[in-house]
Amino acid sequence: MKTLSILTALAAFLVAGCAATSNAGGAGADEKPFGGPDSVDYAAALWKQLNKHRLVGPAAILGKHYQGVHPHGTVLDTIEGTVEVGGHRGAVIVKRNYGGEAVSIANAANDPDKYLQAVTVMFKREAGYDAENKDWFWAKYTPAGAVMDNPKGVALAGRVAKGKQQGCIACHKAAPGGDLVYLHDRY
Ligand code: HEC
Repeated sequence: MKTLSILTALAAFLVAGCAATSNAGGAGADEKPFGGPDSVDYAAALWKQLNKHRLVGPAAILGKHYQGVHPHGTVLDTIEGTVEVGGHRGAVIVKRNYGGEAVSIANAANDPDKYLQAVTVMFKREAGYDAENKDWFWAKYTPAGAVMDNPKGVALAGRVAKGKQQGCIACHKAAPGGDLVYLHDRY
C-alpha cells in the first residue's frame, strides 16, 4: 500500500515536473514563434558556430564600423557568412551594436570590447521554418553570447515578435527587396 502511494506521488511529481519544464517558455513552447526553450537552444548552437567561424567572440573578424540608425545602436559593424547548425547550412548576417558614453566610429573600431553592447543575428533556416518571413531565425545576444530578453522577459530568439506590430520581423518587413534585409550593399 505504502509503495503504491509513493509511486502515485512520484508519478504526480514527474508529471508536474514535465509540465513545469514545458511551461518554462510559455505554454506549448514548441509552437511558440519565439522565446521558447527550442529557440533558445538553437540560438546557443548558432552562437557556437558563429564563434567557431570568428563571426562573434573574442577572435571575431570585424566589419567596417559605421554610424547606426535606431534601434541598432550608435555605431555598428556588420558581416556576413555561412554556417551550419544541426546539419543545416545557411547564410548568416551578424550585426554588432556599439554604444555608451563617448562612443564614436573611431573608438568603437579601436576598442570594440569596451563599447560592444549587443550582437543581433539573422540566420537563414531550413525552408518552411517561417516561409512568410523568408525563413530567418532572429536572435539578440549579449557580447558574451547569452540570449537577451525583451522588456517582458521573453528571450529574443526565434521568429522574433512574429505577428506583432513591433520587433525584428515587423520592422525588417519594411526593408526594400522583400527579403527582410536592409543593407545589401554596406558589407
Ligand atoms: C525599428 C526597426 C528595427 C527593428 C525593431 C530591428 N531592426 Fe534590425 N535593422 C534595422 C535597420 C534599419 C537595419 C539596417 C541599418 C542598420 O545597419 O542599422 C537593420 C539591420 C539589421 C541586420 C543586418 C542585416 C540588414 O537587414 O541590413 C541584422 C542582422 C538585424 N538588423 C537584426 C535584427 C534583429 C535580430 C532584431 C530583433 C532583435 C532587429 N534587427 C530589430 C531596423 C530594425
